[in-house]
Amino acid sequence: TSQPHLYSFPDTETLAKQLRPYVLRCQNAALARHNTFRVAVSGGSLPVVLAKALLADSNGSPEDTPQFSKWNIFFADERAVPLDDKDSNYLLLKDELLSKIPAELGAPTIHPIDEKHVRDGDTQALADVYQEDLMRSFAAKESVKLPVFDLILLGCGPDGHTCSLFPGHELLREKDAWVAAETESPKPPPKRITLTLPVVTSALNIAFVATGGGKKEILKAIFDNEEGHSLPSALVNQGAGEKVSWFTDHPAVEGIAFP
Ligand code: 6PG
Repeated sequence: TSQPHLYSFPDTETLAKQLRPYVLRCQNAALARHNTFRVAVSGGSLPVVLAKALLADSNGSPEDTPQFSKWNIFFADERAVPLDDKDSNYLLLKDELLSKIPAELGAPTIHPIDEKHVRDGDTQALADVYQEDLMRSFAAKESVKLPVFDLILLGCGPDGHTCSLFPGHELLREKDAWVAAETESPKPPPKRITLTLPVVTSALNIAFVATGGGKKEILKAIFDNEEGHSLPSALVNQGAGEKVSWFTDHPAVEGIAFP
């Protein structure tokens, strides 16, 4: 596969301005293809940047308008906590973006986790039920090998993790499941569910948003360095090549030789 695209902007405001046309191009292609836009989002700093991108004023053209009523939003990873818990990625997205969408843009269909298995503490069941939700949207697992998201929006942790796929973890070798349980996440809270690597790399478009000087060392390892090649975020680059776009700011890529 060919190389991922690496973009860098002076600050997150400028980054968000450029993320908007990227996301809307993905939306418009998806709507033309199947009249729905299936997107997965991460937690961390992503929802804030995404909200900046999508809630900005439109130039008035249909191409520059988020058609939220056609969006199906899934979570690339989610913590096994109630939906009103401060650690919930759903709550974060709701507070930053969903609750602020003007009524005239329509309301997206959201796919949160099923809280029943949060209450009973069964993280595997939580993952299985989420996978069933994906199967209802993307076809049965028996008839398609993998779901094909129109867009997956990811963060990259300072250790190189993405979704809840952590470095050196056996989950990186998962070939079959679409959604997996993680019960000992090194980043709290420990119990989570996550899309698996084959699902991530099967998406039509994958965007990472990584900003700030705290990401400098890990981005250098991912892009410049042999040892970095087994990091989860680097595995996405290798598996998906030019389908991947990195939206970074200057402090995050300081010293990197651009591909
Ligand atoms: C989570 C997030 C996580 C995040 C990265 C990057 O649930 O913990 O989805 O995978 O995307 O940790 O986070 P930042 O963008 O805040 O650095």
